[in-house]
Amino acid sequence: MVSIKTVAVLGGTGNLGPAIVHELLSAGFSVTGVTREASTNSTPKFPDTVPVKSVDYASFDALKAAFENQDAVVSVVGAPGVPAQKTAIDAAIAAGVKRFIPSEFGINTRQVRGTSIGKILAGKIAIVDYLEEKVKEGAALTWTGLSTGLFFDWGLDRTGLGVVNLKDKTATIIDSGNEKWQASTLAQVGKAVVGILNHPDETANKYLSTASFSLSQNELVALVEELTGSKLPVTHVKSADLQKEGEEKLAAGDFRAFVDFLRVHNGADGAGNGLTEEQTANALIGLPYEGLKAAVESWLKRAGAL
Ligand SMILES: NC(=O)c1ccc[n+]([C@@H]2O[C@H](COP(=O)([O-])OP(=O)(O)OC[C@H]3O[C@@H](n4cnc5c(N)ncnc54)[C@H](OP(=O)(O)O)[C@@H]3O)[C@@H](O)[C@H]2O)c1
Repeated sequence: MVSIKTVAVLGGTGNLGPAIVHELLSAGFSVTGVTREASTNSTPKFPDTVPVKSVDYASFDALKAAFENQDAVVSVVGAPGVPAQKTAIDAAIAAGVKRFIPSEFGINTRQVRGTSIGKILAGKIAIVDYLEEKVKEGAALTWTGLSTGLFFDWGLDRTGLGVVNLKDKTATIIDSGNEKWQASTLAQVGKAVVGILNHPDETANKYLSTASFSLSQNELVALVEELTGSKLPVTHVKSADLQKEGEEKLAAGDFRAFVDFLRVHNGADGAGNGLTEEQTANALIGLPYEGLKAAVESWLKRAGAL
């Protein structure tokens, strides 16, 4: 039985990384931070208790040295860092790392190959392909890909997930608004990584989907209305129009098309990207669903709307 105790975290200094580092430390893992030598990132950093190695990501040798004595590598690099994971995987294999978790943490990229959104996510798809290839070639390294759906609290704080505009007290609904989509709080993503590393045998060489819950746009709006006690006027948009806008942007090389495609992926009638708890891998890694109402309530409190 494989046991994982030491974990190197790459790119743990961005939007998601600190939540993963926090949960790993809380669960008793020994964490080492890996940061780019070229990093200009000033905040937030790894916690003071975490040793940090500054590494040239183009250097196989430097990455290999950083991964010595690490049981697992968790990559949380942002989009520009996705291709650099290839060298990191080679270095992890050479250093004897047992598990590599690539920077996925969004929609299930195994299901969108060749689609418009899949074209934008081609780098992530290629990295999981590369991990599969290495295992087929006989590498001792194992991997786990993790789809978490939208970052619920992070997305609400930034944009109301494109559904609720707290400032104007309005809502925007795609199609009927009844389609469910997969979502995870940042803390739940961190706990999912912990769950994977605590269940190394069950999660080896698998692409898993976990969530905090799945919800529809209408459910989100109804909860905001219930909790704030005020009705939100709704503007309706058609997923077909959003898709067309995205296609036009993509054809012009504008990768902001991703947001249009993502809204369609989640909210379009018939998209089919919501997951019941049973359809997720939550039970496999001992991760219960969270309460949707409590998550919406804490957002409204953070935003000063309650
Ligand atoms: N599901 C969702 O709603 C959602 C939302 C946002 C992000 N995500 C996903 O979550 C993962 C992490 O995203 P994030 O927003 O946390 O990322 P981020 O904040 O943009 O970047 C994370 C870290 O990546 C490192 N990095 C930046 N540029 C790099 C490069 N060129 N090469 C190597 N490393 C680089 C930096 O760390 P150092 O400076 O320390 O090297 C940075 O702090 C990604 O897979 C992203 O797609 C999902």
